[in-house]
Amino acid sequence: MGTVVLKGGRVVDAAGSRHADVLIDDGQIVAVGPGLDGDRVLDAGGCVVAPGLVDLHSHLRQPGQEEAETIETGARAAALGGYTCILAMPNTIPAIDHAGIVREVLELGRAAPCDVHTSGAITIGRAGEQLAPLGEMAELGVRLFTDDGAGVADTRLMRRAMEYASGLPGKRVVLAQHCEDPVLASGGHMHEGEWSSRLGIPGQPAEAEELMVMRDLALARLTGSRVHFQHLSTAGSVAMVRAAKAGGLPVSCEATTHHFTLTHASCAGYDPVFKVNPPLRTDADVAAVRAGLADGAIDCIATDHAPHAQEAKEAAFDEAPPGMLGLETALALALTELDLPIEAVLALLSWRPAEILGVDDRHGLPVAPGHPANLVVIDPGATWTVDPVALASRARNTPYAGRTLTGRVRHTLLFGEPVVVDAEAQR
Ligand code: DOR
Repeated sequence: MGTVVLKGGRVVDAAGSRHADVLIDDGQIVAVGPGLDGDRVLDAGGCVVAPGLVDLHSHLRQPGQEEAETIETGARAAALGGYTCILAMPNTIPAIDHAGIVREVLELGRAAPCDVHTSGAITIGRAGEQLAPLGEMAELGVRLFTDDGAGVADTRLMRRAMEYASGLPGKRVVLAQHCEDPVLASGGHMHEGEWSSRLGIPGQPAEAEELMVMRDLALARLTGSRVHFQHLSTAGSVAMVRAAKAGGLPVSCEATTHHFTLTHASCAGYDPVFKVNPPLRTDADVAAVRAGLADGAIDCIATDHAPHAQEAKEAAFDEAPPGMLGLETALALALTELDLPIEAVLALLSWRPAEILGVDDRHGLPVAPGHPANLVVIDPGATWTVDPVALASRARNTPYAGRTLTGRVRHTLLFGEPVVVDAEAQR
């Protein structure tokens, strides 16, 4: 492949910030410093060179819903969004709940322009009744288990899952929860509050999420198990996790881009593109999520990239499936909307999620000789307007159509290979 040099940029990683060129050879960073040259020069002038982004929450829809996304198209969208590592969610058809499907997904991911990892379901078929074979999936490298799309409602089963997961020999696994009490949430299509009343759309209360957060904090205390809370969306959830961390519980959590950029008022036009689970909440919830991202109560930003076929999303609000695209807009939204320095934004999008997933030997590492060249080059001043048709995802359900954002991915390198150059996917 020859050597590649990223020239003229400012390196930003967990170790700090400095102006330096980055020389890459055979998939690895071999030198970081001034005046480097290589066989291929990628201009990074005026740009930030950082560890590639890591997403803990991507719905890639394969197997079973390839009309909405495939591992290949989702991974391409990810690379264009600056990601070098994504974690597939298990709510495929059939669910990713045993070694055979884990193998299939990992095999499909091998050819993708992003490092594709997969989660495994906690229960068989995500049905919430029987524990899935976590051990055999962990043997294949699965490090995060979740029934995402639904929470594990049975408290005793969740306790068993936690006990079993913490006892897996030699494996550092994490149980992740989609916090939603299915009975309290049932029939709700948006956040229960002022806007659901005005629109006449049945809502689900914040408490449907918060009850499960509360329960799983209690179970984490009981079992000593690591728990990761997915897509937290309410002020109450953020406050509970903040307090639990202060009390020493080994918990972590993520928030999605849409939960710090949109509120339930977006549903005013009955457009199902704004339907998502957990639902878009109030201004106060958005403020609490932003505060949690700023003070460390929330560990990372996840996309909950949830592609859906156009016909499905064109149904009436109460019939359309929940979910919105995220991989191609997350970085720019975080840079544009969060009042945080780029170092803090990158921590939330790269090295903190890499640590949670246990891929921090390959992703999110400081930009230094000897480390794998999984890198993103960001032009922090570039502005662009979100055009659903121009997205690489097979789906079009972005709620940000027409929004102008500041901050754009210029290049992405996966194990040294330039998979995105000048904002164009190379394969
Ligand atoms: O909005 C959502 N969409 N929330 C989920 O939990 C699942 C996801 C999907 O799979 O479409």
